[in-house]
Amino acid sequence: MPPIISVSNLSKTYKTGFTALKNINLEIRKGEIFALLGPNGAGKTTLIGTICGLVMPSAGTVTIGGHDNVRDFRAARQLVGLVPQELHTDAWETPLATAAFSRGLFGKPKNSALVEKILKDLSLWDKRKSQIITLSGGMKRRVMIAKALAHEPQILFLDEPTAGVDVELRKSMWQVVRELRDSGVTIILTTHYIEEAEEMADRVGVINKGEIVLVEDKATLMHKLGRKQLKLSLPERIDTVPAGLAAYGLELSEDGQELTYTYDAKSERTGITTLLNDLRTAGITFNDLNTTQSSLEEIFVNLVHQ
Ligand SMILES: Nc1ncnc2c1ncn2[C@@H]1O[C@H](COP(=O)(O)OP(=O)(O)O)[C@@H](O)[C@H]1O
Ligand SMILES: [Mg+2]
Repeated sequence: MPPIISVSNLSKTYKTGFTALKNINLEIRKGEIFALLGPNGAGKTTLIGTICGLVMPSAGTVTIGGHDNVRDFRAARQLVGLVPQELHTDAWETPLATAAFSRGLFGKPKNSALVEKILKDLSLWDKRKSQIITLSGGMKRRVMIAKALAHEPQILFLDEPTAGVDVELRKSMWQVVRELRDSGVTIILTTHYIEEAEEMADRVGVINKGEIVLVEDKATLMHKLGRKQLKLSLPERIDTVPAGLAAYGLELSEDGQELTYTYDAKSERTGITTLLNDLRTAGITFNDLNTTQSSLEEIFVNLVHQ
């Protein structure tokens, strides 16, 4: 199946001269939840805005459902619902009116049954006639989702849907997003929470300083993330790993002077203590020892520390 969104060589330099996106290439698969993970200022909102056609690219192209998002803006935009990072709804309006009006903006005929279904799915039906200003933060966020869904988009962008919301609300948002995906909507969400990407995504893309540094299936990513390596420098080279140490799956470097042990940093027992004992029993000494994290983990650590 061709990707539902295809981003090619996309760059964005703002009028200030600041380059917020550098040669982005990315494909979104139909029906997936794709999490775009990156620290504040990485370019997440710029990328979403450029894909949705709200920010003009400096170079590169985006197609949505096969439509070029600049030359064929209207057709591309019809397929997309966007829930922006900053919530801006008309405070005095009601959820019902907001969702219904949004259909009109996209030239769609009235469909009160559909609007009712969307509001019910988002647990807003009871509040459909309340002024938005009287609703809680979580409800306001859901009104924005209802508004974005009202014109029946195939693709929904959620820009930091849970930034600054409490744990309870975050979980209920996750549930809403999963149900949307199950109903066939392709979801692209941005987040700076690793746990959110871990919890929600089918695939994760990491963006940092305007560059996509990694795109990976979530399962593969989480596997790599949990792994650490212990490297032992040997004063005397050995030809093979002694049979008594086979269970550790040690790797011996080509020069025979370094042993690498890979372990799961998240598990309770890393096996390091018994390994060191068994090394001594096998008569292997070492003069230096250090641990390294996979490059992925380094990326994440860097992200978190910024
Ligand atoms: N309209 C703009 N003009 C100039 N610089 C901008 C503009 N919008 C965003 N930026 C800059 O581009 C970078 C990426 O911003 P943004 O896409 O909002 O990142 P994120 O959503 O990942 O936090 C930031 O350094 C930001 O200051
Ligand atoms: Mg942002």
